[in-house]
Amino acid sequence: MLTISPMLDSDIATVFAIEKGSFVVPKPEQIFRDDEKKYLVAKEADKIVGYIGIEDIAGEKHVINMAVHPDCRRKGIGKSLIEKVINSNDVFFLEVRVSNLAARNLYEQYGFKNVGLRKNYYQDNREDAIIMRKDPNE
Ligand SMILES: CC(C)(COP(=O)(O)OP(=O)(O)OC[C@H]1O[C@@H](n2cnc3c(N)ncnc32)[C@H](O)[C@@H]1OP(=O)(O)O)[C@@H](O)C(=O)NCCC(=O)NCCS
Repeated sequence: MLTISPMLDSDIATVFAIEKGSFVVPKPEQIFRDDEKKYLVAKEADKIVGYIGIEDIAGEKHVINMAVHPDCRRKGIGKSLIEKVINSNDVFFLEVRVSNLAARNLYEQYGFKNVGLRKNYYQDNREDAIIMRKDPNE
């Protein structure tokens, strides 16, 4: 059974391992420690299989990042993580690589729309980020 709960100190090493396996430029482990309260983890039989980070910025909800362990993808865990944080009252926004069709498809399913581009946003290959936004008033 999949459970989703606040990230604990003891979860951070595994979350960071998934981060390293999921992103070309992983966030430093210290960021997860500093932002511990912003993260939720998905566990299957007590094993961490994914996480999502969300923060308030100027009254809107910013999805910092999310990832699912590479061995556990395409089983609905990403959807479960999004469903845990999303609601129909708040504005949500995030940045995603133009080439990241998996994530873009996921966010589109939950009503996120492309609203802008941050040119050369990613350090490794200067890829653009698409800004996606979900606004309940639109
Ligand atoms: C994006 C990510 C979190 C999706 O997690 P997941 O558990 O595999 O997602 P789900 O199984 O819940 O799939 C949800 C939807 O995402 C989309 N999707 C997921 N993987 C996909 C793929 N390989 N190709 C195309 N669409 C994909 C589909 O729309 C899917 O819905 P469907 O199964 O009804 O077609 C996962 O691929 C991941 O960790 N990627 C690396 C990290 C990353 O890119 N994070 C996002 C940063 S913005």
